[in-house]
Amino acid sequence: MRTPLIAVLGSINMDLVTTTDRRPDPGETVLGNGFTMVPGGKGANQAIAASRAGGHVLFLGAIGTDVFAPRLRAVLTESGVDTTGLRTLDGPSGIASIVVDGTGENSIIVVGGANAGMTDPTPADLDAIAAADILLCQLEVPVPTVAAAIGHARAHDTTVMLNPSPVQRLAPDLWAQVDIAVVNHDEAAHLGDALGPVPHLVVTLGGDGARYRGPDRAETTVAGPPVEVVDTTGAGDTFTGALAARWPEGPAEALRFACVAGSLATTALGASASIPWRTEIDAALSR
Ligand code: RIB
Repeated sequence: MRTPLIAVLGSINMDLVTTTDRRPDPGETVLGNGFTMVPGGKGANQAIAASRAGGHVLFLGAIGTDVFAPRLRAVLTESGVDTTGLRTLDGPSGIASIVVDGTGENSIIVVGGANAGMTDPTPADLDAIAAADILLCQLEVPVPTVAAAIGHARAHDTTVMLNPSPVQRLAPDLWAQVDIAVVNHDEAAHLGDALGPVPHLVVTLGGDGARYRGPDRAETTVAGPPVEVVDTTGAGDTFTGALAARWPEGPAEALRFACVAGSLATTALGASASIPWRTEIDAALSR
């Protein structure tokens, strides 16, 4: 099987992660028990996951000119991601303020920074999308940019995979251009019938694995391995990137692999820090 070329157009953030036993209610102050800074962002997490899972990955995104920018670039290159499509825009990089509680669940606020400055795909971005096997997008960069990238992918027979997160309603003609949608259970409920025209729909189910519905409308559910959950941040991104990397092998094999990758990503703190490499996923699959 040829290794797929995956263009990921999306966000990259520095995650400012606070751990606490219990997340505060509105107006409440609680004491935390730890703080760390870890590169993240849905686009970067998915690019890193796809690359560590064995795909050839090009990241199309933006960092700022602040103190976080060098580390954000470095995590991509250390993971084997091609950064020739990474722009530097004047001003701050994206950040995410994340609180992780004692059960591993999180709350996240993202401030877009340079991600919000991606107001168009560049001509080089469009060339990369046309040359790719798969375009993978999320919704942490401006939607018109995502829409332009998807339209260009469709015009050049590049498979379009969309993780519409943070969830928002999109124009029906945009959904009609999506080949594969990856959503979590809440996003699926929010989007409802809008997902109907998408030929391949994958719904992640947290610790219960993922459900797949193909063009023939038949549904199958794939379970992930039982794991000790530390932090769920980035688990869905890891699933999605791994799914893209293995998609050419067919949905059944790709889902089995992605469920294991996503589960492994919950066993350590931090989004990019917890994304497994191919050898770790293969080892878990063979257990
Ligand atoms: O999906 C997890 C990611 O969401 C975090 O890494 C954070 O940066 C936000 O984009």
